[in-house]
Amino acid sequence: MNESSASLGVKDIRDDFVPKAGFLSREFHELEKERLWPKVWQIACREEELKNVGDFVVYDICDDSIVVVRSAPDELKAFYNVCQHRGRILMDEKHGRTKFMFCKYHGWRWGLDGTLQKIQDEDDWGGCSTFQKKDLRLKEVNVDTWGGFVFINMDPDCEPLLQFLDPIPSYLDFLKFGEWRYRWYKTVILPCNWKTVLEGFNEAYHIAATHPQLLNYSADYTIARTFGPHGMYFYPPETSTPPGAPAARTGRPVPDDLRITFAEFYDEMDKTLNAMFTPRAIKASQRVLEEVPAGADPVTVIMEHARMHQEEAANEGVDLASMTNQEVGNMGQNWHMFPNHVFLPLLDGSIAYRSRPHGDDPDKCIFDIWSLVRYAPGEEPPLEREFYEDWSVDTEKRFGKILRQDFGNFWATQKGMKCRGFEGSRTNPIQEREIPNMHRALYGYLFGKDS
Ligand code: FES
Ligand SMILES: [Fe+2]
Repeated sequence: MNESSASLGVKDIRDDFVPKAGFLSREFHELEKERLWPKVWQIACREEELKNVGDFVVYDICDDSIVVVRSAPDELKAFYNVCQHRGRILMDEKHGRTKFMFCKYHGWRWGLDGTLQKIQDEDDWGGCSTFQKKDLRLKEVNVDTWGGFVFINMDPDCEPLLQFLDPIPSYLDFLKFGEWRYRWYKTVILPCNWKTVLEGFNEAYHIAATHPQLLNYSADYTIARTFGPHGMYFYPPETSTPPGAPAARTGRPVPDDLRITFAEFYDEMDKTLNAMFTPRAIKASQRVLEEVPAGADPVTVIMEHARMHQEEAANEGVDLASMTNQEVGNMGQNWHMFPNHVFLPLLDGSIAYRSRPHGDDPDKCIFDIWSLVRYAPGEEPPLEREFYEDWSVDTEKRFGKILRQDFGNFWATQKGMKCRGFEGSRTNPIQEREIPNMHRALYGYLFGKDS
């Protein structure tokens, strides 16, 4: 490691400061490869991608490749995606359905349970006492699920998944993520470290400058909370602007009719993000405008929107009415699930992000964006995955205005952090506290918990 990163330790991180080496140095990236990724639970895919026996998804993380497969109707398995003969990657395709895992090089073949089924000219090894077919099972990786997400962990001694996720499930299980499905799925290569992009999504402090169009509806002032390595931010109710009052950041009065604010805001989010706000929630916002009398007080507008949203969902076979006010009140706005997953759940729609290094390059990442919706069973659209090598082409058309605005920051931040004139991130200790918290957890993996 170079001089500036050699002495990195948890003590160097404060709620208002994160050293920059973690975003930039190759040595740090190498340590993540050795001590983070092989040791931590991470989302490989969702269960709906593994519906039938033989369905598989390949999850690549740095130099490792892992294939997750439905090996039996009620069983998932994960294996290192590598042939035990001479090391060719087994499954070239990133997803698909197969009866067995077949190496295209010399034709060795494994069953879905990882058992070696066929060796070309097996008798040739007859004189080798050290060669045992049973020793050549595919090397297995831990796999477990929560909320329809399929996680893998390469560490044979890892803690149980639910223990690692605690307390996230206790806040969010009422949303029944297991019943949610992809509405759309996009992947893009971004020219920055995986943490540079992730951290652009686990704070809302940037909204005022990066997405100023959203200030017509809210001050976007948030407070972050942390839970072990994970984090969450929420909008404190006392910071919302009453109808007709000047908006906190712009000074412009917000509409004095909350019905109009709702309808405009939902429409804006639909056009510029196309996620989180489901068609049924948007329809409810239009119905509020048509069916609730002008001049209704804000509480009535909020209650009526909630009722109509539930009604629209029930018409489609989705029960939102059994959620309690306490569950909804505590759910927060945005969750960071350590290390590399961020999601913003609403009652029946969410946008979710996963970032990870692109191969062996600390300056590039693979960024997945998922719109998830709670559909009635069988009502989900077919899954189509979009992949974009170049983020800068047709950005707004492909990703929408909000993500186009976000993407504009990432290359510039990755470049800016390399300047000698920058020492480290001066994180906002209230609104961006998830960021130093994440780095503390990360340093714990890399340098030891008490480093
Ligand atoms: S490398 Fe796979 S069969 Fe030879
Ligand atoms: Fe943003």
